[in-house]
Amino acid sequence: MKYPVSLIALALAAPLAQAADLAAGKAKVETVCAACHGANGASVGDAIPNLAGQKSVYLENQLKALKDGSRKHQVMGAIAAQLSADDIANVAAFFAAQPGAAGTAKSAFLPNLAKTGVSFPEGYRDTFTWYHTINFPATKQVRYYYANPAAMKAAKEGKDLPNGAYLFAEVYSTKLDADKNPIKGSNGFFVADQLLFYTAMARDSGWGQDIPALLRNDEWNYAVFTGAKQHRPGVNQAECLACHKPLDKVSYTFTLKELATVANAK
Ligand code: HEC
Ligand code: HEC
Repeated sequence: MKYPVSLIALALAAPLAQAADLAAGKAKVETVCAACHGANGASVGDAIPNLAGQKSVYLENQLKALKDGSRKHQVMGAIAAQLSADDIANVAAFFAAQPGAAGTAKSAFLPNLAKTGVSFPEGYRDTFTWYHTINFPATKQVRYYYANPAAMKAAKEGKDLPNGAYLFAEVYSTKLDADKNPIKGSNGFFVADQLLFYTAMARDSGWGQDIPALLRNDEWNYAVFTGAKQHRPGVNQAECLACHKPLDKVSYTFTLKELATVANAK
């Protein structure tokens, strides 16, 4: 008896195709993806998609595209890059199996990721060193970056930033001209107007232990402070961790080069 070649290929391939492992998918979702997409696939915020009840093949295709970079998103790309083919199949099958979420449904942040060890660095103007400035034309902001002595010392010595390091940024609106464009000073930087908020990253012993490996930045924690020096509500530390995560070779710090340049000049 003769079988078409395609059927033989199918028969041979079938035992190799593993069924997705829903329990493994659930475990990964509850520890990592839940921080943004919710444990049942109803996301934590309006800019993050619900995944509950989405087709599993579609989810797999998106994760593969995010992993290989053909679909670009800084935060989600950094996460997808760390998923194996099995992880992708498992989480996709898990989300596909959840009842579809209503557009208005919203999950809470994961408590271990909402918690931060970073507190406001009182007196930083006296003890920290200004090391960098960046214009942000799209948001009409200018940011000033500061580092504490522990960060400065390590940067000067060319070492990884150690526990006790603290990096801090002041975020200002800019003075606007008649056309509502930011006014530039003679140094090329936008002229600061109002202080809007502060962003911070700092590290200390044990600060990474409750953060899942896929998001953990060694022992760094992150925070945003209001102009009144209070923790800004609604900050999802998972987003900070995910976006800074690929910088593991440079102390998770985007501006390490600028920091080292200033530290070496001192
Ligand atoms: C730090 C927040 C965050 C975490 C953690 C996170 N995601 Fe995402 N994810 C996003 C955001 C934001 C988008 C939207 C990307 C875009 O706008 O292109 C997204 C998009 C996706 C998409 C594409 C959805 C679509 O409709 O095309 C998939 C699939 C996905 N995430 C799966 C996962 C999985 C699986 C995990 C856990 C391993 C995970 N995400 C963890 C923030 C996160
Ligand atoms: C989409 C990616 C992305 C996310 C999300 C993100 N960052 Fe960053 N972060 C950057 C980039 C890029 C820089 C470099 C300078 C800049 O853009 O301010 C930076 C710089 C910083 C710095 C100065 C030290 C350094 O790494 O150069 C601090 C402090 C900081 N971020 C804190 C935070 C906090 C707190 C959060 C979460 C609320 C956060 N970041 C979320 C991309 C990100």
